[in-house]
Amino acid sequence: MNDLAGKHFVLGLSGGIACYKAAELCRALIKEGATVQVVMTEAAEQFITPVTMQALSNRPVYGSQWDSREPNNMPHINLSREADAILVAPCSADFMAKLLHGRADELLSLMCLARPRPEVPLLLSPSMNREMWSHPATQRNMQQLTDDGATILGVGSGFQACGEYGDGRMLEPLELLEDIVAFFQPKHLQGKRVLITAGPTFEAIDPVRGITNLSSGKMGFAIARAAHEAGADVTLVAGPVSLKTPRGVTRIDVKSARDMLAATQPAAERADVFVATAAVADWRPANCADQKIKKDGSGKAPALDFTENPDILATVAQGARAKAGQLFCVGFAAESQDLVANAQAKRERKGVPLLVGNIGPATFGADDNALVLVDAKGTMEVPRASKLELARGLVAEIAKRLPKK
Ligand code: C5P
Repeated sequence: MNDLAGKHFVLGLSGGIACYKAAELCRALIKEGATVQVVMTEAAEQFITPVTMQALSNRPVYGSQWDSREPNNMPHINLSREADAILVAPCSADFMAKLLHGRADELLSLMCLARPRPEVPLLLSPSMNREMWSHPATQRNMQQLTDDGATILGVGSGFQACGEYGDGRMLEPLELLEDIVAFFQPKHLQGKRVLITAGPTFEAIDPVRGITNLSSGKMGFAIARAAHEAGADVTLVAGPVSLKTPRGVTRIDVKSARDMLAATQPAAERADVFVATAAVADWRPANCADQKIKKDGSGKAPALDFTENPDILATVAQGARAKAGQLFCVGFAAESQDLVANAQAKRERKGVPLLVGNIGPATFGADDNALVLVDAKGTMEVPRASKLELARGLVAEIAKRLPKK
């Protein structure tokens, strides 16, 4: 997907060892469809050469406000006017302190000061030693820069180049990319709390075996990412899947349907939206054996009794918050035929305002899908697209249906 197609960035590098990550970030932005103009401070040039950044961005790098390549000799004006955002990565503690005071004694800080603020957002990716990061001066500066309209991206935690361990590392390039893509998404769900179930459940037969299904969790994880991008506070209750948690999302890992219900019900008490994408096992073995069930030599398989699992979606949709219109519930239906008729019937049976139908076997594990949205007014077909694109569209449709405050 080219989530940054048509976007142009000024990528500013200030002095810090994380300059080496800026090279990878530049490539990541370009791979996602953006164009990048690199601007480096003198200190940044101590860590990585302009030659590297020129080769990666396919444009000459700027480093001086006296650069005569610009006909009017005003690179700070010309370059910032073309940009959709100025991204300073790494942003050193010193560079933040400069920005805070509106200093403009070299090209990058001059450009940040001279940018047209409403049109050209300023994104800062801090990078520094843990003591510098936790210093009250840095924390104070960040608060003031936020108040002045800058967006401060997070920092990572871990082993630092100086040999110490703690907060203040620059985020990894792909983490930054995810945050930058999110920054440009419309904030349909700002201030809302969204709860999502995803993946299969695992129902134990004995300590080493169980029954499960082929759900990959990809659709639920994509919805979690899209809801976070849209400004929501997102909790994702995930069955056993091997997917990366989307950035900024709180994840609760569970195994069985009963674990999933136990994690979901209290979270639903605080949520505004509940999206049930999990492929919950309909039945579980009635008794889980304490020890591994062994072959007894008779050639006969052991008889297994099954009991029905709780229906998480129906339980939550019948709760007081949903009934009072404070929790908007969305169900999924994976059908193998008669999608619309089955989805309509399921919507009524589960008692939810919106049900999303898809053809089950075709979508399990895939990166794309096609959906049909069914509500009281009728059906809406959403053509095949990546699960993330579909998730963004679904989030917008959910937002339209939420009660207006
Ligand atoms: O009844 P069926 O499994 O087809 O319904 C699918 C919808 O119900 C999905 O949204 C799924 O997450 C939810 N569901 C649930 N708990 C169950 C079974 C299904 O939340 N035990």
